[in-house]
Amino acid sequence: MNYSLFCESLDALIADVPYPLAVLSNAAAFLYESLPDLNWAGFYQTDTNPAGERVLSLGPFQGKPACIEIPWGKGVCGTAAALDQTQLVPDVHEFPGHIACDAASASEIVIPLHKADGSLWGVLDVDSPVMGRFTEEDRAGLEEAARILEKALSSALP
Ligand code: SME
Repeated sequence: MNYSLFCESLDALIADVPYPLAVLSNAAAFLYESLPDLNWAGFYQTDTNPAGERVLSLGPFQGKPACIEIPWGKGVCGTAAALDQTQLVPDVHEFPGHIACDAASASEIVIPLHKADGSLWGVLDVDSPVMGRFTEEDRAGLEEAARILEKALSSALP
């Protein structure tokens, strides 16, 4: 996978786009179309639910309809958010508390995204039906993509 070309194309697609939903929607479509062997790619945003609890709420994505709300610290996404740390999971069935939105998911990588002030904006979630789909090369490439997304989101309208 040529991540340097991938990141250059992503930057060209979303840099200076003034609408956050447009940034996220096109980024989800680009990821899903560009990376082989995915069954889901998209975003969850840090949010507060009607009960006043901190959660992740579903954002723009490609793939099957997904869980609307993920409890803070739960599943792969909630863990990545709570620890503010990338989670690379070769086998989701072995991840305690994994939330199966699509039974076909076998491996995934979740990367935290930050606002300009350094606080957590949410996460990028990329899922695959292939066991062990994501390598350290994917981690480095997608973390670079996350920096490009952060820059685009920070310059978009609030
Ligand atoms: N796999 C995620 C849930 C979200 S979906 O799969 C789209 C998790 O355990 O956090």
